[in-house]
Amino acid sequence: MSDQEAMRFPEIKYTKIFINNEWHDSVSGKTFPTINPCTGEKICDVQEGDKADIDKAVKAARDAFALDAPWRTMDASQRGNLMVKLCELMERDKVYLASLETLDNGKPYLDSLGDLQMTIDCIKYYAGYADKIHGKTIPMDGDFFSYTKLHPVGVCGQIIPWNYPLMMVAWKWGPALACGNTIIMKPAEQTPLTALYCAALSVEAGFPPGVINIVPGYGPTAGAALAEHMDVDKIAFTGSTEVGQLVMMAAAKSNMKRVTFEMGGKSPNIIFDDADLDEAVTWAHAAIMNNHGQNCCAGSRTYVQEGIYDEFVKRSAKMAAERVVGDPYDKKTQQGPQVDQEMFDKVMKYCNIGKEEGATCQAGGERWGDVGYFVKPTVFSDVTDDMRIAREEIFGPVQTILKFKTLEEVIEKANNSKYGLAAGVHTRDINKAFTVAQSLQAGSMWVNCYDCISSQTPFGGFKQSGHGRELGEDGLKEYYEVKTVRHFKSL
Ligand code: NAI
Ligand code: MG
Repeated sequence: MSDQEAMRFPEIKYTKIFINNEWHDSVSGKTFPTINPCTGEKICDVQEGDKADIDKAVKAARDAFALDAPWRTMDASQRGNLMVKLCELMERDKVYLASLETLDNGKPYLDSLGDLQMTIDCIKYYAGYADKIHGKTIPMDGDFFSYTKLHPVGVCGQIIPWNYPLMMVAWKWGPALACGNTIIMKPAEQTPLTALYCAALSVEAGFPPGVINIVPGYGPTAGAALAEHMDVDKIAFTGSTEVGQLVMMAAAKSNMKRVTFEMGGKSPNIIFDDADLDEAVTWAHAAIMNNHGQNCCAGSRTYVQEGIYDEFVKRSAKMAAERVVGDPYDKKTQQGPQVDQEMFDKVMKYCNIGKEEGATCQAGGERWGDVGYFVKPTVFSDVTDDMRIAREEIFGPVQTILKFKTLEEVIEKANNSKYGLAAGVHTRDINKAFTVAQSLQAGSMWVNCYDCISSQTPFGGFKQSGHGRELGEDGLKEYYEVKTVRHFKSL
């Protein structure tokens, strides 16, 4: 087997709750199954954490955050070194980690490898910040010497979804660790395995006990316990807008812990008549089909100007029909199964709604195969803005193509959504590109491309798509508090 070759049956090594650098059974004795979405069969049972386990993890994270604890007394540069070491171990075990990600999530192995590369890049990016997080001296009026210091927020709860399990570890751990916080992560119940393996690597890297803790379990139990915990200083959440609202309320009602959110989207991707047609069709296809459409910033409303509409639909339907669905360990595969029965049912439901609403199904619209949670890449044309398939997040490989006439019209339509995560525009006219980029309410804007994300550039949502930012310097700011010190009679 070559170095890059996937392992079809990666050995499952870690299935317990990770607290204080040790593996624990759940207090309740309960476990839950994690399912292989290709077959619907159980991969293994995982210890099911709930409130009692969250309490244990918070205690460990609090102790690790004590001023005299190793994590707080070590040099900031050493924090960065530990993070780099973690990246080296992820790199060493990349075939295993990517294989495990594919087993648990169903995404193509090459996509898992790509995700892992972005995971490593992100932790390295923030590792570089660890000893460069500092305040200012400020010339305050009066006889004062005044300066700011940037303090870690403290004990951070991190609740993540199943669509990018590894990358979400990096987006959450990277800035939190660089600033010197401690962590309790609750991975999604669908995909707990790779986060647990990363926890094991963090021990090998040398992180002190209690700095990173992982409690697998369900949202309404383990997740809610974290959100409402009185001794958690911050919650970072990625997932649905509905649950984001619950987490925000729990944070407000408990101790007003800091909150950051990355939530849903229904992102417009606008293609003008003057765009390079081949390029635009390809970008628009990838914008919605990548990761099986299970992407918060998916370009899920494709707006096409009337002059190229019919040709665009024809080419998009052809691309969808030719997309290779199947065994995610096969390197030719572009699309594996949806993550679980619930998501499969949701996508199929919306395919039926689209047909009932009068949209034209140009490709797919039905199940692929008869085992597992596979859906055929689907394209709907003749979609109008009032249809549910144009308004609600489907989170599946379902492209909805809408027609528009003018720039002003499409800007208004694109902004007519409760979401504001991302948007794309495809045109050869730089003025049009600037006008659209200026006018759309979206945290990420792509011009003549889509879904191009990097650790250096901030990512997050306007409106009900989010609060705060992840990645880049803006992402770091969400993990420190600014303390101002004013010394009287300094001279
Ligand atoms: P979800 O929002 O229920 O789950 C995300 C995370 O929140 C998981 O770890 C879950 O266990 C946790 N959670 C659930 N209920 C909770 C609660 N009451 N308190 C604290 N934590 C809780 O998302 P789900 O059910 O997996 O997917 C539903 C829809 O959400 C999808 O169809 C999609 O539209 C959207 N979604 C968006 C994501 C994004 O990247 N923005 C990721 C996943 C889902
Ligand atoms: Mg849910």
